[in-house]
Amino acid sequence: MDYTVITAMENPEQKRMHDEITHQIWPEFILHDPISNQNWRNLYTTFAEYQISILIDGEVAGFANSIPFCWCESLENLPEEGWDWALLKGFEDKSNNKKPNILCGLQIAINRNYQEHRLSYSIVAEMKSIAYNNGFKYFVVPVRPNLKSKYPLIPIEDYIKWENSDGYPFDPWLRVHVKLGARVTKICHEAMYIPGKIGDWEKWTGMKMPGSGNYVVDGALVPVRVDIIKDIAEYSEPNIWVSYYLR
Ligand SMILES: CC(C)(COP(=O)(O)OP(=O)(O)OC[C@H]1O[C@@H](n2cnc3c(N)ncnc32)[C@H](O)[C@@H]1OP(=O)(O)O)[C@@H](O)C(=O)NCCC(=O)NCCS
Repeated sequence: MDYTVITAMENPEQKRMHDEITHQIWPEFILHDPISNQNWRNLYTTFAEYQISILIDGEVAGFANSIPFCWCESLENLPEEGWDWALLKGFEDKSNNKKPNILCGLQIAINRNYQEHRLSYSIVAEMKSIAYNNGFKYFVVPVRPNLKSKYPLIPIEDYIKWENSDGYPFDPWLRVHVKLGARVTKICHEAMYIPGKIGDWEKWTGMKMPGSGNYVVDGALVPVRVDIIKDIAEYSEPNIWVSYYLR
């Protein structure tokens, strides 16, 4: 498919279009990560050059968000708090004038009308070349293994070992990265933490949560833990750090 790539630097209006797509493709609860909600807007102003759109006939067919940060330890030591941590670390490094050496992917989203046309491969490849052209040593991603939502009771350690008959990962999204040359680095068990009152979670999921326990929720990779006495429901999403060595 022929497409053009633009950044939010070239057209700040992109954010509004990205937000529209985000609301269409993600389960509601994902939109309530407190760290994301505090920082997302600033991503488009502070790091506009790393927020890209793929345009087909003038329409946003897909987009990607990323943030640079500085990491001098081994990639094996990247934190358990994956996605939430990366977002905070990028802003922290920026305000401390720390020179980043890594670009970190935060989201890749394909407009529903353009899904299943192999566009995800192109977007990841575009992000990799942006990382390379900006002098970064690595492009890393805390990958959300999207098909795990169908297997919420399987431990993530087992799930990421599942393979298809060709030896590639069973999970489609992890597979895209592996096919493009990423190394599966480690699991980050608490990549995204979304706490809320039980009423909030009931609203986000359209489910009643009348007693304490673990709930299987549509779109969630692991169960949501509910504590009636404390009036809290918590979701801690596991992701998988993958890394591309660029130079
Ligand atoms: C995940 C996402 C980016 C994939 O993009 P896509 O356009 O739907 O998928 P592609 O056509 O590029 O295919 C990528 C791989 O997924 C597989 N795939 C696509 N749709 C699938 C489905 N519904 N079920 C199982 N596998 C699927 C494809 O077969 C392909 O794997 P292969 O090349 O080994 O055959 C897209 O579905 C999306 O935006 N989802 C919501 C947001 C999200 O989960 N983003 C990723 C985490 S940030």
